[in-house]
Amino acid sequence: PVLILLGPPGAGKGTQARMLEETFGLVQLSTGDLLRAAVAAGTEAGKAAKAVMEAGELVSDEIVIAILRDRLTDADCAKGVILDGFPRTTIQAEALDALLAEGGQKINAAVSLEVDDAAMVNRISGRYTCGTCGEGYHDEFKQPLQTGVCDKCGGTDMKRRADDNAETVGSRLVAYHEQTAPLIAYYKGKGSLKTVNAMLGIDEISGNLNAIVEEAI
Ligand code: AP5
Ligand code: ZN
Repeated sequence: PVLILLGPPGAGKGTQARMLEETFGLVQLSTGDLLRAAVAAGTEAGKAAKAVMEAGELVSDEIVIAILRDRLTDADCAKGVILDGFPRTTIQAEALDALLAEGGQKINAAVSLEVDDAAMVNRISGRYTCGTCGEGYHDEFKQPLQTGVCDKCGGTDMKRRADDNAETVGSRLVAYHEQTAPLIAYYKGKGSLKTVNAMLGIDEISGNLNAIVEEAI
């Protein structure tokens, strides 16, 4: 199965993708994570992406599609994927359709996480992640049981992202509305769009999402 999570920065795509991964045995594919890994590794793609990401703008379709294509063809992805943060432009959506058609696959559902922009600034500025296993946390909404210690792996190397600041969040929201929000109509037109209210609590959203996914896969 192929599931897409659509939504602005901070909507909870990564949080929900990781929960779906555990529940349904699918693989989370986050182009944000793949790009951050490329930046950390200092690859050509990473060098080109670094400043663009720090400014809160979209990395070029060419780079992102190449990175996604590479990862999607790995053996573990055969059991099914949750795309988190991809596609983000119409060109990426069309490239994904072509890529899936090559492998005889199709999109089971594109789920739009619906939220108010105003709440996103707070969600993003309070976010931090376990540097060891990638589990996401929040200063207010999702604290580990023991401060500074990851519930999942016991790691203590908590990290904040370079682009999680008030200025960059503004540009990321603009990029979302201008370039990514049109995908809602794109998937509606194809009959694969589902929506969830992502202003609810993490577990409530997860329950609603599970029901959608059970029906779609
Ligand atoms: P990316 O890494 O994809 O970031 P994003 O889309 O901005 O999304 P976020 O990771 O910020 O948010 P999220 O929806 O995953 O929320 P999360 O679950 O963490 O992209 C980063 C950059 O890479 C882009 O700006 C761009 O430059 C580039 N890029 C990536 N993909 C690209 C592409 N396809 N094309 C071009 N460029 C690309 O939740 C946020 C916080 O809120 C967490 O702390 C969480 O604990 C908390 N939280 C989650 N749900 C709730 C809830 N229901 N209630 C309260 N708190 C909650
Ligand atoms: Zn961890």
